[in-house]
Amino acid sequence: MSKLFCGVDFGTTNSSAALSDGDRTWVLELDRTNDVPKSLPSLLYLSRDGEQIIGRAAAKAFIERNVDREVKLEQVDLDAAIEAYVPSEPDKSESYRPMELAEVRVTEGVRVSATMEVNSPGRLFQSLKSLLRYRAFRGTEVFGQTYQIEELVAMILQRIKQSVDEAAGEPVARAVFGRPVRFSVNPEEDAVAERRLRVAAGLSGFEEVVFFYEPVAACVEYAVTTDRDLKLMVVDIGGGTCDVCVMTFGAGGNAMERVAGSHILGVAGVPVAGDAIDREIIQEKLFPRFGSQSRYGPAHLPIPQFLFNNILDWQNLYKLSTEETLNWLVAVEMSSDQPEAIGALHCLIQRNYGYLVAREAEAAKKRLSSVTETDIAIMREIIQIHERLERIEFAHIIEHDLDTMLDSIVEAENAAQVNPGDIDYVLTTGGTCLIPAVREMLESRYGVDRLIQRDTFTSVATGLAVAARYA
Ligand SMILES: Nc1ncnc2c1ncn2[C@@H]1O[C@H](COP(=O)(O)OP(=O)(O)OP(=O)(O)O)[C@@H](O)[C@H]1O
Ligand SMILES: [Mg+2]
Repeated sequence: MSKLFCGVDFGTTNSSAALSDGDRTWVLELDRTNDVPKSLPSLLYLSRDGEQIIGRAAAKAFIERNVDREVKLEQVDLDAAIEAYVPSEPDKSESYRPMELAEVRVTEGVRVSATMEVNSPGRLFQSLKSLLRYRAFRGTEVFGQTYQIEELVAMILQRIKQSVDEAAGEPVARAVFGRPVRFSVNPEEDAVAERRLRVAAGLSGFEEVVFFYEPVAACVEYAVTTDRDLKLMVVDIGGGTCDVCVMTFGAGGNAMERVAGSHILGVAGVPVAGDAIDREIIQEKLFPRFGSQSRYGPAHLPIPQFLFNNILDWQNLYKLSTEETLNWLVAVEMSSDQPEAIGALHCLIQRNYGYLVAREAEAAKKRLSSVTETDIAIMREIIQIHERLERIEFAHIIEHDLDTMLDSIVEAENAAQVNPGDIDYVLTTGGTCLIPAVREMLESRYGVDRLIQRDTFTSVATGLAVAARYA
């Protein structure tokens, strides 16, 4: 068995891993093509011929191969037949009584067919961690093969396992995995998500897995760098969840003594973070540019809003690209009070630009962490969107998400029975903590001098590897 301790942070957006020999802890380089090589984008691209592409390359493959390509859906005969019960034509004779209808059933053979994207080169999966909690989402069919959610997650974890084994120079069977405080506010869904992540870790080759709360790991990561008696809070806001913990560490001691003498006073968390914020931007700034407020026809009917939910769920946007929907949109465009916007919607659906829209919104959000205004520009064929977004307006758009995060922070304080003034330092980590409005929220509660920014993408993995020694 390996003498090294391993920590794996499977993130909604980015994953990272660290190893520790007990004295030293180092974060592994998981994706050389990524702008932050120590973090691996949690993206999976499955190609038609079964190729699995992970990380930054997955996004590249999707854009090169899938985007700009006309989506063609066809009714495909699956070359199978099933016996189906069909209600028979009711016996209209005098003795017929409706109550007997259920009895009068016959079976008939039905050919099985499905609407499929016949020429799709591959599928991209993003934010798989957020799907773990949905009982109903067991898996998905990709080019005729069904993959369970655990198998999809395991494909990403396998890539991490490979890097871990290579860096360790031997197979590492045991790892401490991070988990959010709450995958879901529903305890049943939370348990389902953890169980699935454990199965996925097992499938990827980690034979023994121990779970540790992600914010607690980030707290340990900092605490072992000092020898002071401290009451610490961690606020870790990533792509999928906002996680909070309050912990105490006694004075002095080496890392081992400090971890052994620590106490978790309170934790809290909500599944509201960066992905939710991106959706707010798309809804607020981009939906109207695709005609969400438009009306059509002589009766001035509003455009059905389900079309827009499909834009948010871009991974399934291709399903709208049926001849029927596209023809209907052409007709709507002709009688619309916003024909350009409806034309843009048609183009978005037909050419599969949903992912690009999501990426643009996310990129604009990130830019607003360093500049006070930016443009969301989406220029593809007849889609000509140039939407200005100012930091102040952005803060306003995400106000209720910030309120939800603050509720979680207050919940952690209450669970720990502390007041804001009792906390020595508030450690921040996770990409969403870079948003100025999030920082301002924390500054106004705790004061700027008590905020300590830890490494955005690797502090959880480092803490997990440190904790792995004692877990
Ligand atoms: N400079 C930035 N400004 C604002 N948001 C950012 C910035 N950089 C990254 N983000 C956002 O941070 C999120 C990713 O952060 P992180 O990698 O910490 O999440 P994660 O660990 O994958 O997710 P989780 O911990 O929720 O499972 C994304 O939503 C991303 O858009
Ligand atoms: Mg994280």
